[in-house]
Formats: sequence, C-alpha cells, structure tokens
Amino acid sequence: MAKPFYITTPIYYVNARPHIGHVYTTTVADVVARYRRLSGEAVFFLTGTDEHGKKVADAARDRGVSPQEYVDQIAGEFEAAFAEMGLTNDDFIRTTQPRHQQRAAAAIQQLVDQGDVYLGEYEGWYDQGQEEYVTETNARDADYKSVISGKPLVKVKEASYFFKLSRFQDELLAHIDANPGFIQPEARRNEVVSRVKAGLNDIAISRSTEPWGIPMPGDPSHSVYVWIDALLNYATAPEANERPELWPADVHLVGKEILWFHAVIWPAMLMALGRPLFGKVHAHSFWVSEGRKMSKSLGNFVDLDALRGYVDRFGLDAVRWYLATQGPMGATDADFAEAKFIEVYNNDLANTLGNCVSRVLKMIGKYFDGQTPLGWPEEADEPDRLYGQFESWAENYRVAMSRLDLAAAARYAMGVVEAVDGYIERTQPFKLAKDDNQRGRLSGVLYDCAEALRIASLLLWPFLPTACEEVWRRLAQDYAGFMANAPDHTGDLGGWAVWGQLQPGTPLDAGPPLFQRHVVA
Ligand code: ME8
Ligand code: MG
Repeated sequence: MAKPFYITTPIYYVNARPHIGHVYTTTVADVVARYRRLSGEAVFFLTGTDEHGKKVADAARDRGVSPQEYVDQIAGEFEAAFAEMGLTNDDFIRTTQPRHQQRAAAAIQQLVDQGDVYLGEYEGWYDQGQEEYVTETNARDADYKSVISGKPLVKVKEASYFFKLSRFQDELLAHIDANPGFIQPEARRNEVVSRVKAGLNDIAISRSTEPWGIPMPGDPSHSVYVWIDALLNYATAPEANERPELWPADVHLVGKEILWFHAVIWPAMLMALGRPLFGKVHAHSFWVSEGRKMSKSLGNFVDLDALRGYVDRFGLDAVRWYLATQGPMGATDADFAEAKFIEVYNNDLANTLGNCVSRVLKMIGKYFDGQTPLGWPEEADEPDRLYGQFESWAENYRVAMSRLDLAAAARYAMGVVEAVDGYIERTQPFKLAKDDNQRGRLSGVLYDCAEALRIASLLLWPFLPTACEEVWRRLAQDYAGFMANAPDHTGDLGGWAVWGQLQPGTPLDAGPPLFQRHVVA
C-alpha cells in the first residue's frame, strides 16, 4: 500500500475571526486534496487552530472571558467557516485539545531527555503580533517595529529554555541541497538558504511570563513557546488518529511570513526527534484587496462576511475559482478586486464552461432526442478528433497539480472546454444536422463533445465541485462510478480519464445555465 498523501495548512490563531487569508490557504489545500482523492489516492488533509500564547490570552482578556471560553468560540467559528466554504479537511486539530497537548509535551520531554534543551535567559525583542523573537539586527533594520503589523516590538527579558538549533545548521543545508523541492517557491528557498548560511542561533522555546500554554515538561513555571507547541500539531494529529503511517507529511502549505518556522525550526526539531522530514513546504504570498494591503481602517478587509457576499452573488464555486486561479501561490502578491472577480467569473465560468455545456447538451437534446449519441461509425475516417489532443491536456494538468500550480492546472482543464468550442466551430454540427447523409458524422462529433466535457468536468471538479457535480448529473455520471474506475494510487489521473466512457443511448439532461452571466450595471 502506498503511503497516504498528507497535506496540511497552518493552524490559525484564534485571536481574530476567519478571513480571506485563512480561507485561501485551506481552499488551496482542499483543491489539491480533492484532486488526489479523485485520482485514487488515500488522502489526509489537516487544518486547525493555534490557541495558546500571549496574543490569544490578551484577546480573551479584552473581551472579559476566560481564555478557554474564548478559544472554544473562535475555533468553532473557524470550523463552521471552513464547512460553509465546502472544505473537506479530514481532521481539525486544536492545540488546546488534550490529544495534542499530551503528545506535544511528550515530544518536548524527549528533547529535554536527550539534552537538546537547556535553561538560559532570553533578552531581546519580541514581535507580539507574530509571537516571534526578533534579532537585534533585524529589529534595528525595521526601526524596532513589526515588519508585518508595524506595531512596536516589545523588549523581553525572561528565563527561557533553549533548543540547540545551531547544532542542525549543516545537516539542514545538506538536506535542502539534496532535496531541491523541499522549500518552494525557488525564490523563497534561496532566501532561507542564505539566512541559514549566515548562522543559526539556539532558540528560546519556553516563556516564563506567559502562562497560557502547555506547561514545560519538568518545569511548570514555564509554558512551551506557542510556535513550538503549534508546529508539533503536524505530528500529533496523525498519532492522535492512530495513523502513524501518515507521517511524514507530503506538503506543508503556509504563507510566506511563517516560512522560517517551517523551513528551519520544524525540520531541526524533526531531526532532533529522529523523525523523517516532510516532503515540502510551499510558501505562498499574500492577498491584497483592491490594490492595497488589507486593513480594517481602509475598509478593504476581506473578512468572512465579505466572502459570503461574493458567495451569495456568484456562488461558492466562483469564490473557489477566483481564489485558486488568481491567488498568490507564487512569489508575488495577488489582488482581490471586485471588477477582476466579475471579469474572471464571466469569462471562465459563464462564457466558457457554462456556455459550452449548454450548447452541447442542447444540440444532443435537439438532434438525438436527449440521448447520448452512438459516436463515430466504424467506417468514418475523421482525422480531426478531439481525443487526439486529450492526452497532452491531461498530462499537463497532472504535472501542474503535482507542482501545486493550480492556476496552470485550471487553465489546462478549461482548455479542454475551449477545445470543444473550437471543434464545434470547425465541424458546425447545426449544419450537419440539416443533411441526413451526415448523420453518422453528427453523432461522432456530438459524442466527442459530450465525452470531452465529461473529462473536463472531472479535471475541473477539485475547483468547482458544485457545478461539476451538476454536469455529472446531466451526463448521468457520478462520483462513485468514477471512483470505481480509479486505479490504486498510481500517481496518475484516475481510470475515469480514459477516453470513451459515456454510454451511447443514456439519457442526458440539458438543464438551465450553470452560471448566469453577471452584467455590470
Ligand atoms: O501564523 N493572504 O497563524 P495566522 C494569504 N498560528 N494568506 C494569508 C493572508 C493573506 N493576506 N493572511 C493570512 C499563524 N494568511 C500561526 C501558524 S502553523 C504551525 C502556526 C494565511 O492566524 C497564510 O496561510 O496568523 C498565513 O501563513 C496564515 O494565514 C497565518 O495565519
Ligand atoms: Mg499572522
């Protein structure tokens, strides 16, 4: 049995309500997870919430409730938001759950027992909003402000346990060198490598001034530094599910601001724990909104309610489509802008996918009484068949997906739909229909169009589950049937990707437009 594909998102701080950033990373993971499942792989997709630390404790205090009451409430909002957005995570881990706390404490105990941890004193800068220690040089360069929030850094002086991070510098560089895909994208990998080469210092992993956390094993006057607690979630979740075979994770998907923790500190912890390293960490960039950094005061903050507004107007698939195809997966930020959203929606969903499905099914309704045509007659000699192009689309799509290049994968999938449109332009079925001698050709052309749409609807399903399931209904297909045809994890697309599976004679259903074109008033 092949190892299940294990993909994670960051676990999100519960000091703030869910917003586009959280929905984005989790949606990207969802698209990848759905694609892998559909291809016949076993998948474990993990997300959750990061609930300890000063920032969260302060947020509870501000609201006059206990930290536990507060984290329960906000974690519930995250879980509900992800369900509302159609996200299919297999588990939702919360760092205040005993199943995590016990296992995280055991891992830290192991580091203590091995002598990888020592007691010292931390004196220096702390970025409260990021829960992150900042070196003197970096603090000075940033004018003693947070590079993320712009808020003043805090001077901290406290007893701390330290992890011997410095010990792992060479081993880490060797691993990164031997595994070129370990840190993605390339530009970010290079940044990390030069920083590691500049030298690693041991890091504080406990706080004696912030009690809201997992007690430090052997010394409950300290609590475990929230980031060390949080990173361990990726390992505690498989253990808590009694599925140790899930580790190592294949992909950690994160935002660029937390890459250092994932690309340096986490691998070093794993090395110290004697565990295999994960396959890759992919650090995406940020959403901005209407061309500017999102902020509450500018009024351009895309929170859950703003996203709901788009879902109400355009549907959930449209929001997923925009996030996944226009999002900041690479090294540059992306803009969430209403005008662009509408343009993408109209072009891709209403004009391309929706229109093509209507066209093909209407013609089959009219010329073949709504039944899947027989296809090409044996004697037909037709060089220009759609399936001639099909294998390269599917292969390009598969490669793009394995590189996490969702925009490219979506383009290849939509390219199948565009090819159907082009084929209709060339073959003019509405003219063929006027000539009884062309009946066989008409049957072949429309069978191929419907079959190409079947395959397109599978390639597009990870992005557009609702619309594609509706296409399946119209084509008399279903998920269970496709899965029965999936190979047992070959790393390829499922058996559904083999051409020619629509059954002639099956009744098809034209139905109303999948997406209404949005007219800007
Ligand atoms: O950092 N654009 O949690 P967090 C795109 N608890 N993605 C964004 C975004 C934006 N504008 N804003 C946030 C933490 N994100 C830690 C993680 S993991 C062991 C602990 C996404 O609530 C992106 O994935 O600050 C980013 O890394 C994450 O939210 C940060 O969420
Ligand atoms: Mg953050």
